[in-house]
Formats: sequence, structure tokens, C-alpha cells
Amino acid sequence: MTITHLSAECYPIAKVGGLADVVGALPKYLNELGVNSHVIMPFYNNNFTNSHNFITLHQGVLHLGATPYEYQVLKLKDDILEFDVFFIHVPELLFKDYVYSAFDTERFLAFQIAALDWLLLQENLTDVVHCHDHHTGLVPFMMQESHKYASFKNTPSVLTIHNAQYQGWFSHDLVGLIPEFNFDNVGLLDWYHVINPLAAAIKCAWRITTVSPSYMEELRQKANGLEDLLQHEFAKCKGILNGIDTEVWNTETDAFIIKNYTTETLEAGKQANKKWLCDTFNLDSNKPLIAFIGRLVHEKGSDLFPEVFQTILQQRQCNILLLGSGHQEVEYQLNAFKDQFTGLYNTFIGYDEKLSHIIYAGADFLLMPSRVEPCGLNQMYALKYGTIPIVNKIGGLKDTVKDLSVPNGFGICHDGATVSEICNAINRAISFYGDPKFNQIQHDIMTIDHSWHASAQAYINLYNSLKPAL
Ligand code: ADP
Ligand code: GLC
Repeated sequence: MTITHLSAECYPIAKVGGLADVVGALPKYLNELGVNSHVIMPFYNNNFTNSHNFITLHQGVLHLGATPYEYQVLKLKDDILEFDVFFIHVPELLFKDYVYSAFDTERFLAFQIAALDWLLLQENLTDVVHCHDHHTGLVPFMMQESHKYASFKNTPSVLTIHNAQYQGWFSHDLVGLIPEFNFDNVGLLDWYHVINPLAAAIKCAWRITTVSPSYMEELRQKANGLEDLLQHEFAKCKGILNGIDTEVWNTETDAFIIKNYTTETLEAGKQANKKWLCDTFNLDSNKPLIAFIGRLVHEKGSDLFPEVFQTILQQRQCNILLLGSGHQEVEYQLNAFKDQFTGLYNTFIGYDEKLSHIIYAGADFLLMPSRVEPCGLNQMYALKYGTIPIVNKIGGLKDTVKDLSVPNGFGICHDGATVSEICNAINRAISFYGDPKFNQIQHDIMTIDHSWHASAQAYINLYNSLKPAL
């Protein structure tokens, strides 16, 4: 069985968030379990593509309505990844120094059409087309409805929803960009009078997964307008918790961190990483270090940070270090009170993969007060690095973090993304820092198994359930 993953991101090639980590790991672990998997993704103008060599497998012309665009299918010259990646190079649309922008309809439509056009030319390349998020959401529809892809009618498609907040909406005025289909079925594209690629995929894909069981349940109540549709399609939906790539996220071998460590050398290892962070960001290494890494958006609760940090830092009992970027007003506010709390608070506004690894290693606690968290990988990286997560009890956070107050608990959970809940949770963390059990918990959480093996097997079971159709 061969699985084709279609995605806008894939680590280490192009990463904006957790989608990249998942698509960069799942195919590898599927391959290990004997299920041949590859990825098709856009070719961007970024550090990775500029520093590697590629060969051209195919040159063609795709059509968005009547407009032709030249495209190429590229492959890495050397096999440096543990799975094949095929790149769709549409110089005019996709080859940009960013992954996402505010004007992506044509870009990702071109990606999806070129990918299907090329797959059509390959004999037996794929048994299941696995789409990730709305950027690839029109693929199940086109496989089922577009005349030119009629030969894909019996090829199963799977959609994984990494985040239902973003749906890729565009106007019916652009319907002519989609390869010709029986117009009687245009309703499959529609959700509340606009074309909604995520909704179209939920309707047309043979199976729907999302990245944790709790998020799957939550989506039935709250899915940014798609809840009724998900209720209706629930029989084909399943929550499968993401894993983490333990080759990349490994304290013994991580080349980004200041000092490597194991469960045996945890204290010295974390201390060295914390010292580097405190020296670099002018923080107090004698006090607990609470960190946040992520996108500064409403979903992550980041609009609450200015008030939360102000309240907490006034007590002068901990450090706070933040790595992230996003909402400009929040960025501005978070930078603004740096002077007020010099020596205890700092921010790095931007994206820095290396720094993120050092923070997971050197922080004492990782803060994740998300309002929406389909899975969340940060808390699992934190656990692996002996850093205690402080999380709002929702989505994947609920499925992966057990509060200290329950038997075998190891994290700090709060009920709801409010300033008072988050402040209480941080105060619990500050008190726990001095607790005799603190080091034991740091040690224990490093051994929790969140590797991909179980989750990859769950995907294989799902692919196998489609087998009668293969
Ligand atoms: P999401 O995909 O919603 O952003 P996840 O928790 O699934 O959240 O994954 C986020 C991923 O992106 C993690 O690998 C995290 O370390 C990384 N990340 C987020 N923001 C930054 C940043 N500013 N710099 C470096 N890595 C970041
Ligand atoms: C999305 C979600 C995040 C999840 C990631 C990978 O970006 O916001 O919770 O961990 O996808 O599935």
C-alpha cells in the first residue's frame, strides 16, 4: 500500500507550525511500519530549497480556468530524508519566501491541480491520497467530481484536520478555476454561500481524522461554523493523537541545545541550558523560568499575556521568556513592558527553531493557555525535555497532560483561558518549583512515550479499513 500525503508544510523543508512537524514525521514512521509513504508539497523560495539540489521529474502546464501556468515536479537530488518528497514548482504562484499570505486561493488551487495532474500520469504511484488541512481540501472533491480526474473515483481520500479555524473560504465567482465538473454537484463545494475547501473535503473525503480524540469531540460543538457538518459526517470521523519525532526531539542528540542530557544527567543538562537562556536574555537563573513558544494569535490565548505577565511579574517570583510572533498589537504590548521588568522578563519576537529547542531544554515550565488546541506538540516536546507544562484543559492538551493533583499527575492544568485561571496556574507552578517532588516529576515526564509508533499504527488501521475499495 502506498500513501500520498499532500501538504503545504513539511519539516525540515518549510515550517510555520505543527503541521510541518507532523507531515515531516508521519511518513517516516509509516515507512518504518512497512507502509510506503511520500509527500507532495509546494516548492517555496526558502533556506531549504536554496541550499539543496533538485532534479526535474516532469514539466507541464496546469490551468486555472483558462489561464495556463507552467509547472515542474522536482525531487531532491540526494536522499537526505527518510521518505520521498515531490515538489510542485509553479514559479509564478508558489515560489515565494513565505508559505501563507492573505491571497492564497490561486496558489493552493494551482498546487492541488498540478499535484493531481501529475499523479494522473503516474502508474500505480498511490493507493490513498491523504490531505492535510484546507490547503489541500479541494483534492477529495476534484478526485470525485472533476471529469479529468475520473480515474481517481475509486482511490480513497483521507482528510486530516489539523486546525478547523482556517477553512480557505473563497467566492463562488472563482468556481471556474476548478477543473470542470458536473455543476449539479456544486453544492459539495459550498458552505454558507461561499466555497469552503475544508467543508468540501469533509463532505467528499472517505475518512476524516483530526489530531486528538478530544478535539474531535469538541468540533461537534464548536468548529468555526462547521459543527453541523461534522455532526452529520461523524460516522467517518476519528481522532488520532499526533506523536512526536523522537529522532528530532531527543535531549541526548539534539544538536541545537547547549548541553545534551538524559534522565540520568537531567539536572546538569537543564541547568546549563537555563543558564544560557538567563545569560542571553538577562534573566534570574535562581528563579523558575516559565516560557511560551508559539503563534501570538487568539487561539493560543496570547491576547491575555500582557495582563497575565503584568500581574505575575509584579510579584517578582519567576522569569518569563516568550518566543513567538503574530498579532502586531500583542507583539507591541509584549515588548513594551520589557523595561519595567528587566532581569525577569524578555521576548524574542520572530521564528527561531534553534532557540525553541534551547527553551524546551532550559525552561522549568511551558505555558500553553490555548483557547483552541487541536493537538499541540509543544507540550509533548516540553515533557520529553523535562519541562512541566501549564495548560488549559482542552483539545490535545487535555489528552496529554494530567494535573499534579490526580494520581500519577505531572502537569498543571487550568479550566478556561482567563487571566485569573492562568495566573492561578502560574502561581501553582511557582510554588511547585520549591517542592521536593519537582525534580522527580521532571525526570518522570521525560520517560512518557509520545513517539509516533502507536499513532502511525492507528493511521495504518484506518488505511486498511479502506482496503476493500482498493
Ligand atoms: P501550531 O501548529 O498550532 O502552531 P503546535 O503546538 O502543533 O502548534 O506546533 C507548533 C510548532 O511550531 C512547534 O514545533 C513549535 O516549537 C514551533 N514554533 C512555534 N512558534 C515558533 C517560533 N516562534 N520559533 C520557533 N518555533 C516555533
Ligand atoms: C495545528 C494545530 C495544533 C496541532 C498541529 C499539528 O496547527 O493548531 O494544535 O498540534 O496542527 O497537528
